Amino acid sequence: MRSLGSFILCSTLAFAKAAPEPTCNYIAGDAGWPTRSEWDQLNQTISGQLIQTVPMGSVCHYEPFGNYNETECNELRKDWDFRHWKFKVWEMGQIHVTHPSEIMNPYYQNRSCDPFTSAETPCELGNYASYSINVTSARDVIAGIQFAKEKNIRLVVKNTGHDYHGRSSGSNSLALWMYNLKTSEINHNYRSSYYSGAAVRLGAGMGVGESYMAVHEHGYRIVGGECGTVGVAGGYSQGGGHSVLTSENGLGSDQVLEWEVVTTTGEYLIATPEQNSDLYWALSGGGGGTYGVVVGVTVKIFKDGPFAGGALVFNNTDTPGKEVFWKAVELWYQYFPSFTVNNNTVQFVLLNSTLDAQAINLPGQTVEDVNKLMAPYLAELDGLGIQYSFTTEYSETYYDHFNNYYGPLPHGAEPVTTILYARLVPRKVIQDKKANAKLIDSLRSVVESGKWLIGCGVFNLQNKIHPDNAVLPAWRDAQAVCIANGFWNFEATAEENLKLKEELADFHAPAMDAATPGSGVYMNEVDPLYKGDWKEAMYGANYELLLDIKHKYDPDHLLFGHMSVGSDEFHFDGSGRLCYGQQDSNINLDVGLVNQAMGWRSSWSMNWGRE
Ligand SMILES: Cc1cc2nc3c(=O)[nH]c(=O)nc-3n(C[C@H](O)[C@H](O)[C@H](O)COP(=O)(O)OP(=O)(O)OC[C@H]3O[C@@H](n4cnc5c(N)ncnc54)[C@H](O)[C@@H]3O)c2cc1C
Ligand SMILES: *[C@@H]1O[C@H](CO)[C@@H](O)[C@H](O)[C@H]1NC(C)=O
Ligand SMILES: *[C@@H]1O[C@H](CO)[C@@H](O)[C@H](O)[C@H]1NC(C)=O
Ligand SMILES: *[C@@H]1O[C@H](CO)[C@@H](O)[C@H](O)[C@H]1NC(C)=O
Ligand SMILES: *[C@@H]1O[C@H](CO)[C@@H](O)[C@H](O)[C@H]1NC(C)=O
Ligand SMILES: *[C@@H]1O[C@H](CO)[C@@H](O)[C@H](O)[C@H]1NC(C)=O
Ligand SMILES: *[C@@H]1O[C@H](CO)[C@@H](O)[C@H](O)[C@H]1NC(C)=O
Ligand SMILES: *[C@@H]1O[C@H](CO)[C@@H](O)[C@H](O)[C@H]1NC(C)=O
Repeated sequence: MRSLGSFILCSTLAFAKAAPEPTCNYIAGDAGWPTRSEWDQLNQTISGQLIQTVPMGSVCHYEPFGNYNETECNELRKDWDFRHWKFKVWEMGQIHVTHPSEIMNPYYQNRSCDPFTSAETPCELGNYASYSINVTSARDVIAGIQFAKEKNIRLVVKNTGHDYHGRSSGSNSLALWMYNLKTSEINHNYRSSYYSGAAVRLGAGMGVGESYMAVHEHGYRIVGGECGTVGVAGGYSQGGGHSVLTSENGLGSDQVLEWEVVTTTGEYLIATPEQNSDLYWALSGGGGGTYGVVVGVTVKIFKDGPFAGGALVFNNTDTPGKEVFWKAVELWYQYFPSFTVNNNTVQFVLLNSTLDAQAINLPGQTVEDVNKLMAPYLAELDGLGIQYSFTTEYSETYYDHFNNYYGPLPHGAEPVTTILYARLVPRKVIQDKKANAKLIDSLRSVVESGKWLIGCGVFNLQNKIHPDNAVLPAWRDAQAVCIANGFWNFEATAEENLKLKEELADFHAPAMDAATPGSGVYMNEVDPLYKGDWKEAMYGANYELLLDIKHKYDPDHLLFGHMSVGSDEFHFDGSGRLCYGQQDSNINLDVGLVNQAMGWRSSWSMNWGRE
């Protein structure tokens, strides 16, 4: 094992650089970067919860960590790119979720310590945090914030590392790792001026699947994503949050009754619709990692009960002279308003070859109801001479329904290597035949090459009462969120993957935008290379107020995230220091990318990247 001393020396040599501007954070190698004994002091104040980053990929490299181990490296390679078929599902990204400083997104992993590069290639920290605090309480959060401020180093907040913009990570940063705050306390009779009913207080580290299980034991259900590994209190509830229950109960952000927050001024606050209501408003939909550090959240829960489900699949068997598939797709979209009566939702994937409605979700209803709901559309398919497979299933609870269609809990099956763009589809587009036809043309242009698929969640939020919050208003008028998905190809070169991302940003996203004028995006599911007006598309009319609230609660500018509110007030200098203040040219997103192993396309029929 190499000594820590040689690691520090080596990283010092690797970063020969000019003195930072006063507004920039220090990076490793700067004279101002904390000394070993200063890190030790921090560690003591937080009872030994400080972790120095050792990337998982270091077992595949000789330098500088000195823990190369061929056996462990081979194991890691099997898990890294999610090819593992375990328990009939892909164990999606669990290895990245449970580690203090790993992140899921290959673009931001950036091959800095990649298990597939040669053992001689040094393992570098790249975008990974340098140190993480394994947070056990608000006290640890306050200690981390104080240290970052005093020492002038970058601070990041990580829960599960799902973020598509690398925002739960950061080069030369101290990370607040919230993931182990796994508590849940049921309150059967929560009372306030704005809600009376059941609620649960979740620690910031609770995952969607874990939360489903925790409330299920008490006979309740809770709004959470279709993906079990996402964290509830982090980016999900802070950024909108769609789910199987969107039509019945609203978005993830709409469920929040109380936020428990540590601000970057070191204050511990409770934010509710009545108390610190501006912070409550911003945190509920204004984006993760921007306004403060959430240590716990109290959300509504609902008595669980019956659920009926369905699944419908039909293929594109068009031949010249017999073109019916896209006609059927057009009709499918026209049916959205009728599908989403009675609080129903539908999730489906559209490929050039198939329309696969993997989950038709009917809360509180029966198989009879599913048949009745789908009969008119199935008659259309019959009329067009399209063969289909249609199945139904009844579950005693939402929990069982979710397990059947999205499970197995707690993780479920989700590919994490998606390159994606999520656009909100307004109801008025669906209801206007010409506009709908144009939408289908744009979606067809996305999937036609066979490289992309469209995954949509269909819902209805019309006339749903919700708290006043910062959720992008376009959600309320939307009938679906439709997501163009491509897949990171670990076997391709850096340039090929980048080209795929650019194809999305240059062609598919603009085509989807043009077909849905005036609408917006789901801020959590947008590719970082998106070239549209991100402020307008992600935050809409809320942006200016969100910025004021950001300035109020984060006056020293500690929290930064790509395309987060206020992010354009920051820049990176030539050596990668995060600086507050404007610079002339924009952040350079040029990148050397990851390239290893996986054939996602062949598994599209099994896993369609439902989001
Ligand atoms: C495989 C996959 C499946 C997905 N499925 C769904 C889905 O079904 N429905 C849906 O709506 N979205 C889904 N998403 C998007 C997901 O909601 C976002 O990526 C979300 O930001 C994840 O939040 P996190 O806290 O788990 O992740 P992280 O990456 O850890 O954090 C995301 C952001 O929130 C911040 N943050 C995290 N914790 C805190 C905290 N305690 N206080 C303050 N800031 C915090 C981070 O700094 C970062 O900016 C999915 C994403 C992936 C990769
Ligand atoms: C912090 O202290 C704990 C307990 O003494 C120790 O195990 C851990 O390695 C220390 N972390 C760092 C970064 O030194
Ligand atoms: C490599 O890792 C394996 C599995 O953890 C362990 O059994 C073995 O002893 C390690 N080898 C060396 C040389 O450390
Ligand atoms: C983080 O802290 C928790 C609680 O003390 C502990 O159980 C866990 O092992 C720690 N994780 C790591 C990676 O240190
Ligand atoms: C839809 O959900 C709401 C709760 O948001 C409920 O009050 C209403 O009864 C539900 N409607 C139907 C038809 O089940
Ligand atoms: C669609 O095609 C797949 C294989 O290409 C086949 O397995 C499936 O049975 C087809 N489904 C229908 C409804 O025709
Ligand atoms: C898309 O579908 C059409 C009709 O079935 C087919 O002719 C075409 O080859 C498909 N494109 C790809 C890339 O598979
Ligand atoms: C990836 O690494 C390269 C080389 O260090 C750097 O220039 C680029 O900005 C990094 N990309 C991302 C997305 O971090």
